[in-house]
Amino acid sequence: MQEFAWWQHSVVYEIYPRSFQDSNGDGVGDLHGILERLDYLVQLGIDAVWISPIYPSPMADFGYDVADYCGIDPIFGSMADFGRLLAEIHQHGLKMILDFVPNHTSDRHPWFLQSRSSRDNPKRDWYLWRDQPNNWLSHFGGSGWEKDDTTGQYYYHSFLKQQPDLNWRNPAVKAAMFDALRFWLKKGVDGFRVDVMWLMIKDHQYRDNPPNPGYRLGQSSNSRHLPIYNSDRPEIHELVAAMRAVVDEFPQRVLIGEIYLPVQQLMTYYGKDLKGANLPFNFQLLQCAWSAEAVAQVISDYQGALPEGAWPNWVLGNHDQPRIATRVGARQSRVAAMLLLTLPGTLTMYYGEELGMTNVPIPPEEVQDPAEKNEPGLGLGRDPERTPMPWNSSPAAGFTTGSPWLRLADDYKPVNVAVLEQDKSSILHLYRKLIDLRRRRPTLAVGKLSSIKAENGVLRYRRIGHHDRILVVLNMSADPATIAIESGSVLLSTCFDREGKTLHETVDLKSGEGLVLDLD
Ligand code: GLC
Repeated sequence: MQEFAWWQHSVVYEIYPRSFQDSNGDGVGDLHGILERLDYLVQLGIDAVWISPIYPSPMADFGYDVADYCGIDPIFGSMADFGRLLAEIHQHGLKMILDFVPNHTSDRHPWFLQSRSSRDNPKRDWYLWRDQPNNWLSHFGGSGWEKDDTTGQYYYHSFLKQQPDLNWRNPAVKAAMFDALRFWLKKGVDGFRVDVMWLMIKDHQYRDNPPNPGYRLGQSSNSRHLPIYNSDRPEIHELVAAMRAVVDEFPQRVLIGEIYLPVQQLMTYYGKDLKGANLPFNFQLLQCAWSAEAVAQVISDYQGALPEGAWPNWVLGNHDQPRIATRVGARQSRVAAMLLLTLPGTLTMYYGEELGMTNVPIPPEEVQDPAEKNEPGLGLGRDPERTPMPWNSSPAAGFTTGSPWLRLADDYKPVNVAVLEQDKSSILHLYRKLIDLRRRRPTLAVGKLSSIKAENGVLRYRRIGHHDRILVVLNMSADPATIAIESGSVLLSTCFDREGKTLHETVDLKSGEGLVLDLD
């Protein structure tokens, strides 16, 4: 694997720090809590943690409203705690990826306080100010423009009005933000996941967006328009390349972009000569229908669209999306695990997926997420996928000694780390075995992907290495299925009952059963 960068064969594990492990009893997870759980992560076998924002923040959007790019919010700990965590992460052989939120700051960031103070303040042009709003909308509902009484102008916010958008056309903004990147790179962080990369540059003429003919009542109000002029602008690529150049000033780092776009547009974020994002996040599995046909199509399309030399990546969940076990059900979540961990490239999983954690319904009076508060009842809230990690069966699941900031799942007593560790047939053990297999058989991470097919509700594909050939068959339907295969011996089954057996010509698969077969 030496010819590959560390991130190319990594499994990245997203930690939503508020919800992973609290160490001081305030009900909110923190850096010291993550440190206490490093052994668990090592045992799971993941390679890198991506930690959602830990910077000082008023928490209007739970850290995605940054008030200081070079600090740590006291709720998560101190800079000393951060240094200790980074050192320990490296000592445990893991990597640390930080979230970087460049599109907007908090409205409490000193830059914005200065910018809004007068029209001739030197920081005025660091944000997007206009005499009149155009029709651009906020992703969290309503107009994206807010009138500021001090100066009588409007500023643009792609998200909450507490999250004013920075003006990335201003060279001073670029310089200040790139210095923030260098601040963390010098400390030794291994890379960044860049928040809403495709939104960072807007049309300089501020043209109105056209209506979206596909909009239906019940969708988020933001989908009323086609975001032609405030997203995925041509100038973004120069900016991403500049960001990449900063990251490349330091050896062995990675730049990952959060980008929700159709595949063809997504691919442009690898950049000219692959000098853009190392990995534009591939969210196809989060959005497609759950059937062998649909997933086969998604895999083929993605693979077919990858530019020459671009490195693939796959994502199963994140803090903005319904949990996979809720989307596909408990039985299929084992298939989803096998799918993810046998696809090529860099993989990202979300904390708790390895426990089969499901979305937790949050009663209206307990809602925290501004997306739900602003547009209630449309199912846009993200609290359900952000509930505390259940570690054991004690009163607050071992997450906190206090009262958790978001309620625990009702089923945390049967579904927690301690219980699933005891149960050798659990999904937790499946994840451990899959990650271990991926490490032992590098073909799964870096080999070729071929022969992608769907038949009888079964998805199948091959992974081809220099010295081995591996077949993956996944029954994604609710019924048993019989399919023809080449002879091979079972490396792993989602049901753990066929390992080592040799199969000839046909195989009967139970509903939700998946197999990894060695064809040699
Ligand atoms: C990204 C984050 C999301 C946040 C939004 C605004 O999509 O993942 O959690 O609310 O950006 O920063």
